[in-house]
Amino acid sequence: MTTRILDGRLLSAEIRAEIRKDVEQFTKNTGYPPGLATLLVGDNPASHTYVANKIKSCKDVGVASFHYPLPASASQSTLKELIERLNRDPNVHAILLQLPLPGGLDSTPLLNAIDPWKDADGLHPVNLGSLFEYKNWREMIESGQPLSCTPHGVIQMLRRSNIQMAGRHAVVLGRSKLVGKPMAMMLLALDATVTICHSRTQDLPAACREADILVAAIGQPRFVKPSMVKEGAVVVDVGMNRAPEGGLCGDVDFEAVKLKTSAITPVPGGIGPMTVAMLLHNTLQLAKKQAA
Ligand SMILES: NC(=O)c1ccc[n+]([C@@H]2O[C@H](COP(=O)([O-])OP(=O)(O)OC[C@H]3O[C@@H](n4cnc5c(N)ncnc54)[C@H](OP(=O)(O)O)[C@@H]3O)[C@@H](O)[C@H]2O)c1
Repeated sequence: MTTRILDGRLLSAEIRAEIRKDVEQFTKNTGYPPGLATLLVGDNPASHTYVANKIKSCKDVGVASFHYPLPASASQSTLKELIERLNRDPNVHAILLQLPLPGGLDSTPLLNAIDPWKDADGLHPVNLGSLFEYKNWREMIESGQPLSCTPHGVIQMLRRSNIQMAGRHAVVLGRSKLVGKPMAMMLLALDATVTICHSRTQDLPAACREADILVAAIGQPRFVKPSMVKEGAVVVDVGMNRAPEGGLCGDVDFEAVKLKTSAITPVPGGIGPMTVAMLLHNTLQLAKKQAA
C-alpha cells in the first residue's frame, strides 16, 4: 500500500507563517508583542532541548519569550510564587511549565495555579474541563480557550491533511491528562467514534486493529507493530522516546507499520513540531483575549 508520510515540519512551517502575520498585526495594533513565559526546572536534557526549541520558535514568529530556568532543588512554593508573579505580569500572556518536573515536585497544584487565561498548554482544570462542554469542534475552536497543544497539533495535522474523522473509529492509546484524554475529547468533537486504551486494556492488539485512526501516546519505544494495525489505517505517533540505538523514536515501529497504513506521522518531524506551532497559536490567542 502506498502511504502518505504526514510531514509535521512542513505543516508547522505553514502554520507558523500564518501566526507570524497575525503576530505582526497584533503587535502593530497594540504596540507590544504577545509574550510567553517558559519555566524549566532541573536538568532533564530532553526538556532543555524542547524548551530551547520553543524559545527559538517564539523568536521566529515575533513572540517575546521570558525564560525562567530553575534548579532541580527549587521548592514547590518558589515555583508557585513565580507563577503568581507571572499571572500579574502584563508582558506575559501565556505561561508554560515544562513537564515532567523533577521528583519531589507536584505538577498538579502548579498547573492549577496558572491563570486559566494564561494557560499556554491548556492544562488548567478550567480549560481541560471545558472540553466536555462543547458540542462540536467549531464551538471548541471558537471559544478562544487554550486547547492542549499536542492533541490540538494532532487534530490540525489530520484536518490540514484532509483526513476525515467524522464517523470513523479513532483509537487513542494512552489516557494521560497531557495527551490521551484531551485527544479523545477533540476527536469526539469532530464526530469520530472514540475508544481510549491504556495499560489495563484487555487484548490491546485487537482493540488497535479496530482503528481507522490510531493515535499512539504511551511512551513505549516502537510498541505498535504491524499486527496491531488495520490495513489502510491512519497512524499518528505522539511518542517521543529515546531509541535503543540512540536518537529519538516514537511509540510506533515506523518502518514496519508504514507498509500497512494509508498515512502515518514520523518521529521526529511529526507531532513534535505541530505541538510547538499550537503553543504559539495559544500564546497569540491568549494575548488577543487579554487585549480585548
Ligand atoms: N510530540 C510531543 O510534542 C509530545 C508531547 C507530549 C508527550 N509526548 C510523548 O507522548 C508519549 C506519552 O506521553 P504522556 O505524557 O501521555 O505519558 P504518560 O503520562 O506516561 O501516560 C502514558 C499513558 O500510556 C499508557 N501506557 C503505558 N504503557 C502502556 C502499554 N504498554 N500498553 C497500553 N498503554 C500503556 C498509560 O496507561 P495507564 O494510564 O494505565 O498507566 C498512560 O495512560 C511519551 O512518549 C511522550 O514523550 C510527545
